[in-house]
Amino acid sequence: MIYLDNAATSWPKPPQVIQAMLDILKRGCANPGRSAHAMARQAEDVVLNTRETIARFFNISDPMRIAFMPNTTYALNTAIYGVLSEGSVVVATAMEHNSVLRPLKTLESKGYISVEIIKPEKLGRITIQSIKKALRPGVKLFCMTLSSNVTGAIMPVEEAGKICRANGILFLVDAAQGAGSIPVDVEKMNIDLLAFPGHKGLMGPQGTAGLYVRDGVDIRPLVQGGTGSFSDSLLQPGVFPDILESGTLNVPGIAGLGKGVSYINDTGIEIIQQKKKNMLKMLFDGLGKESNITLYSPPPEQNSGIFALSVNQMDSSEICYLLDRKFGICTRGGFHCAPLAHLSLGTAETGLVRISPGYFNNETETELTIKAILSIARGIH
Ligand SMILES: Cc1ncc(COP(=O)(O)O)c(C=O)c1O
Repeated sequence: MIYLDNAATSWPKPPQVIQAMLDILKRGCANPGRSAHAMARQAEDVVLNTRETIARFFNISDPMRIAFMPNTTYALNTAIYGVLSEGSVVVATAMEHNSVLRPLKTLESKGYISVEIIKPEKLGRITIQSIKKALRPGVKLFCMTLSSNVTGAIMPVEEAGKICRANGILFLVDAAQGAGSIPVDVEKMNIDLLAFPGHKGLMGPQGTAGLYVRDGVDIRPLVQGGTGSFSDSLLQPGVFPDILESGTLNVPGIAGLGKGVSYINDTGIEIIQQKKKNMLKMLFDGLGKESNITLYSPPPEQNSGIFALSVNQMDSSEICYLLDRKFGICTRGGFHCAPLAHLSLGTAETGLVRISPGYFNNETETELTIKAILSIARGIH
């Protein structure tokens, strides 16, 4: 089997990730922050360790401003529902995932907020000129993905952050695609809210993600409940991360996530980035000239690690089905939870085949994939 669906969730996981999860489950995985006994303190240490590792990774000065969440969707919803108020004006790009678009459109449909969408150029690129035009004083929040989950186009996050800061606009970055291969520095990029998955580029297990909230940003929690702190109070504590972390945490997952980020640090993010770029280059070289194939991804230097294509008028799901059943290659077809991206790209009918290599794929697998796609495109499968 060749796994090329790392944009959905990364696989395999480094052995250190699996080991850390097994260790804490075997050693004693008590409830962190609830009791004072040794096993609870042990679990608390594991959580704190991962919080600190992630804070260093994204240049977050206070690790306590990171709240763990079950997935990026939860983190994005927490950010959106937590900072907007009646009458807020929000700007987002058409390249956003439904985990941004749906909460925004839900709030808009109730007349609570208004939403402006920035359209992309070719291959899903968002220009800095279009961002400048949309981000005027009075806008409350700008939501932008770090890179497109459809085409892989890397967004001008640093430039957008400067414009947001100059205009007093909160800047929410969805780092679902790119965290772990594109360096993210919340200070340099002026990011106020960073939603990140644990289970994709950070190489942790499913069920892990987080939300960073800059000090000074007022946020309301999406969920209230037990935090283990201020238990005599009937109201949610305002301190971080408790305000956003109600209920028992996924301690084994968080233990694994910490090791995933350490693995990236030990390997080097540039090495990971380069390996993905090399595989993308092979795909561009191998498939770029085939007349039946249309490519939708920017070149490797401007791409977080996605190769999107269509074959004539073939339905993308049919191609993915053939890749899976005939060649044992896992890819993703359809619309990737990004309806506006596909509308902008003109692929709302057939969808696209998304190939997303990860650090653990190799050249042989990439060559086999090229051959498989060529044979489907030429009708000789
Ligand atoms: C750009 C983008 N944002 C958000 C998400 C949602 O991530 P999660 O599955 O962790 O909720 C995804 C998932 O693929 C994504 O690609």
